[in-house]
Amino acid sequence: MFPTTRLRRLRYNPIIRDMVRETTLEVNDFIYPLFVCHGEKIKKQVGSMPGVYQMSVDKLVEECKDVSSLGIPAVILFGIPKSKDEVGSEAYDEHGIIQQAVRSIKKEVKNLVVITDVCMCEYTSHGHCGVLKDEEILNDETNELLAKEALSHAKAGADIIAPSDMMDGRVAAIRKILDEKGFQNIPIMSYAAKYSSGYYGPFRDAAESTPKFGDRRSHQMDSANVLEALREVELDIQEGADIVMVKPAGPYLDVIYRVKEKFGLPTAAYQVSGEYSMIKAAGQNGWIDEPRVMMESLIAIKRAGADMILTYFAKDAVKLLS
Ligand code: PBG
Ligand code: ZN
Repeated sequence: MFPTTRLRRLRYNPIIRDMVRETTLEVNDFIYPLFVCHGEKIKKQVGSMPGVYQMSVDKLVEECKDVSSLGIPAVILFGIPKSKDEVGSEAYDEHGIIQQAVRSIKKEVKNLVVITDVCMCEYTSHGHCGVLKDEEILNDETNELLAKEALSHAKAGADIIAPSDMMDGRVAAIRKILDEKGFQNIPIMSYAAKYSSGYYGPFRDAAESTPKFGDRRSHQMDSANVLEALREVELDIQEGADIVMVKPAGPYLDVIYRVKEKFGLPTAAYQVSGEYSMIKAAGQNGWIDEPRVMMESLIAIKRAGADMILTYFAKDAVKLLS
């Protein structure tokens, strides 16, 4: 009790502050998302995401070398196909953009973990995360295509498979096909508690994946629910997920905390495009101190319980840390 207890005592000296810090960010915490497109020598900035680019494979490989030289352990890839159709054929084409990108990175960059996002929305002409009958996304039929997509990524050399579609049963479908085809040692990082979120807006610019009609509320979660998130995570673990993800991150810190507390699995959190763009935009306007808010947003995600953070700030954060 005051005056015996003075919590400020440990705050005066910066070295003491460092000594009592409870949470620290390290380079190993980060996963860097990248967007890959067809063509050559392309590096095109995404309008709503300053510092984020669509890159052709040659540029992507250069970027991956840079990422790896900073010590960042992993990237996650999103593809922009040459053409889109009703059933998202390029998603599971062995010559598709992701499959080409993975092969090139694995050949040319040592010591970088390549994670691939598995979903249909970048590849379908309607922009939905699965195959449609009228306006309904068919769950089980979509699972078959997601499994094919995951297998084609593993065959190309992906180190971790990350399904982001939120179909029921897709982790089991992916685990089954990977095991049957000899990829029993490839981990699955499931987007287990993925919310239907307005914060994905800039990503849909970057990945050109905005749905042509409707929204994603029939498969992504309602932002009001957290008990349901625990059920989603539990099912994904039962189906074989090795790492579970909560997405978005900053607005869902309670979900990260509860998932980590309850299951204790390696837990990832995705600081999504809208979280990034808001900090960038306010920073560029001089309304906030961007590096400071960036680090604060990341430490909060770690403090909530995340073991890994997928973030467009990965390179900036790591440069600040060193
Ligand atoms: C694909 C996918 C999305 C994101 C990651 N994988 C978009 C969506 O569900 O619409 C969002 C990532 C971000 O906003 O940074 N299903
Ligand atoms: Zn999708």
